Amino acid sequence: MKIIGTGSAHPSFTLTNDMLASFLETSDEWITSRTGIKQRQVITDEELKDLAADAAKRALQNAGLSPRDIDFIICSNVVNEYATPSLACLVHEALDASCPSVDINAACTGFIYALQIAEAYQKAGMAKNILIVCAEEPTRMVDWNDRRTCVLFGDGAGAVVVTEGDNLKAIKTTNTSLTEVLVEKRVLEPTPFIKKEEVNKPLFMSGQEVFKNAVSSAARDIKEVVAKAGLQIADIDLFLLHQANMRIVEFVAHMLGEDKLKFPHNVENYGNTSSASIPMLLDELNAQGKLKNGQKLVLSAFGAGFTTGACVLEWATDKN
Ligand code: UT7
Repeated sequence: MKIIGTGSAHPSFTLTNDMLASFLETSDEWITSRTGIKQRQVITDEELKDLAADAAKRALQNAGLSPRDIDFIICSNVVNEYATPSLACLVHEALDASCPSVDINAACTGFIYALQIAEAYQKAGMAKNILIVCAEEPTRMVDWNDRRTCVLFGDGAGAVVVTEGDNLKAIKTTNTSLTEVLVEKRVLEPTPFIKKEEVNKPLFMSGQEVFKNAVSSAARDIKEVVAKAGLQIADIDLFLLHQANMRIVEFVAHMLGEDKLKFPHNVENYGNTSSASIPMLLDELNAQGKLKNGQKLVLSAFGAGFTTGACVLEWATDKN
């Protein structure tokens, strides 16, 4: 497979650390030093489905394809206003596409899972051109009185179009049953038959547990996929890590013995946008002309579950 188009979209409202400090017991200094985040884009009147569709349209335009050229749509999403139809169906409608479409939820690792599913569809001969859209609104999952979580997240959408090619050199995904370290529970519609006590539980995160798991799994996954691709860590041009926290990115760079300059980041501008973070970063680099033909990229993510994933991609500038 290879990526032939990227796109992204984000809400218009910018929430800075100083703005947060006006209603929470926090500070720009605390947030910046612990996370690297300076601001995030937060959904106000937008609907996530529209951001998802905008990112998809931009990726299609970048790929030089029309919606009817797409054989399959995969949307990665944790939460949005619609329980059904799927976000993929809503994007399908906005694009006037004609292919099957499905949502997946692998939390922040969703983009890597989606790439792997796309590759499997291609290898099975079931699809050639696949649209992957990762769209997330984690700011609707947190308690805005909880300074431990709400300062960390932002909303947005990132999309790619992939076609057949030999550019995905290695990929792996994992899941370990560690469901309590990062969890949100919602109350569904009542029925006459529900007797158990149910309460909404906004996003809870055991920050230090997640931190430890994130750095160790990212370093392990990256070493594995790079070896599987027949490469050395030093052969990799850029490492695009899930944009959750600058300290995690720097820690992983240190564990791999690599220069921090090889780890592009935009977490300072967007916060943690869950599975949208890597395709949003990829699109930013692509739009800035920073991705060159033949460059070796590593993508690596981790998230609730505890899911993880990584892959090695060779960047290609030709679209055929
Ligand atoms: O896709 C999901 C991925 N999630 C992550 O990547 C998160 C990984 N974890 C982390 O990045 C870090 O654990 C955090 C940034 C979430 C927290 O940093 P920490 O160094 O682990 O802080 P902590 O939770 O140990 O809290 C230290 C202190 C506490 O105060 P006391 O108990 O020492 O008095 C917290 O109450 O910092 C306090 N604190 C805050 N202070 C100001 C927690 N949040 C804030 C805040 N502003 N926003």
